[in-house]
Amino acid sequence: MTDRLGEPLPADLRDEGERLTADELAALQLSRLRRTLRHAYDHVELYRRKFDAAGVAPRDCRGLEDLARFPFTTKADLRDTYPYGMFAVPMEQVRRVHASSGTTGRPTVVGYTENDLSMWADVMARSIRAAGGRAGHKVHVSYGYGLFTGGLGAHYGAERAGCTVIPVSGGMTARQVQLILDFRPEIIMVTPSYMLTLLDEFERRGIDPRETSLRIGMFGAEPWTEQMRTEIERRAGIHAVDIYGLSEVIGPGVAQECVETKDGLHVWEDHFLPEVVDPVSDEVLAAGERGELVFTSLTKEALPVIRYRTRDLTRLLPGTARAPFRRMEKVTGRCDDMIILRGVNVFPSQIEEIVLRTPGVAPHFQLELTREGRLDRLTVRAEARPEARDDADLRTAAGAVIVRAVKDVVGVAVEVQIVDPDTLERSAGKLQRVRDLRPND
Ligand code: DLL
Repeated sequence: MTDRLGEPLPADLRDEGERLTADELAALQLSRLRRTLRHAYDHVELYRRKFDAAGVAPRDCRGLEDLARFPFTTKADLRDTYPYGMFAVPMEQVRRVHASSGTTGRPTVVGYTENDLSMWADVMARSIRAAGGRAGHKVHVSYGYGLFTGGLGAHYGAERAGCTVIPVSGGMTARQVQLILDFRPEIIMVTPSYMLTLLDEFERRGIDPRETSLRIGMFGAEPWTEQMRTEIERRAGIHAVDIYGLSEVIGPGVAQECVETKDGLHVWEDHFLPEVVDPVSDEVLAAGERGELVFTSLTKEALPVIRYRTRDLTRLLPGTARAPFRRMEKVTGRCDDMIILRGVNVFPSQIEEIVLRTPGVAPHFQLELTREGRLDRLTVRAEARPEARDDADLRTAAGAVIVRAVKDVVGVAVEVQIVDPDTLERSAGKLQRVRDLRPND
């Protein structure tokens, strides 16, 4: 691709945080951390109770390493204090709330002061620049608007970056495609699974997606693999970069992959301090070790989070394009979407990698868990590519390739069905890959 996106970001386009030295960053983090611990302790009963029970007080934090002495916060804490029990400012100062739908029970509610919203727009704008976006670009936002943080988070960040926002939200695929053709955005922000739905729609209409105005896609809100990046970049002729975030920490814009390196996501750690812990022993892991990502907010007012357990699995790596900020490796799984199949840990992302490199198979697949007698079974249902629809031999061979690869790479036997093109449910936002039909016991 002949563009300037492979070049480092010029110094004059970096914000104050991006120009910090390692020492300045560490000093800033410590002073912000101490202030956050004090703010949480003084204004949120749950934090006071938890700190007291653990025998620690905000003044015990003298260095960044002291954070490990403080207790964790979990999604259950937010649920138990539903809706506003963990807000640390009076309600009059809360300018907006968002909420995650939550597959079980109550949603978790998060709140933002005016300063929080401004900080969020700043980190999102920084993410857009890291993705290669510039003032003057048009940004098509297909993340859902509403209680979900995706749409509005992207929206205000793009405005802050000086872009023109096209606030489409999710769904109505045919209209999305028409708007991309008519409004000519350079950037699209959407879940990777919904991007595939859009690409299918372009192709169904006989339009080559590589011919559109799009040059950059900022994909997140769900896990996706390097194989998916290759697929999207090839079919759309764009740079596909990863954006990460979660409502409890702020929303999208916690960490961002830089277009010039595409080597994992730099964590904006002047605002969000990451740790990686062993999900079982809770011990803090050394740099480079894989485990559960934990975040402490450093500047949030309405909802400070202390050592929030994300359930996302990754590892921390040294910074590259945005050093001294560290990188996190692409999140390819969560503690809770790991399937334990006859004692073997299986992540949907491992299956995605295999499906996407199998000839004749489209990047659409679903996993179904069932139980026969005492035995759990995993069925991988993947779609044939349109050109392979009537090629029974290719389809049979593709099924066998997937069975063998899953056995070799993951170590379990699965059943594979190669179904007709366009038969599996398409994503309109975050995709649910796994259907668990096992009886509860
Ligand atoms: O999904 C925020 C977001 C919106 C991020 C748009 C990026 C783009 P929640 O609904 O609270 O917030 O879901 C957060 O989604 O803990 C991860 O499990 C997953 N997730 C988000 N981004 C990524 C990513 C938004 N880039 C949860 N890769 C997180 C893998 C991701 N998983």
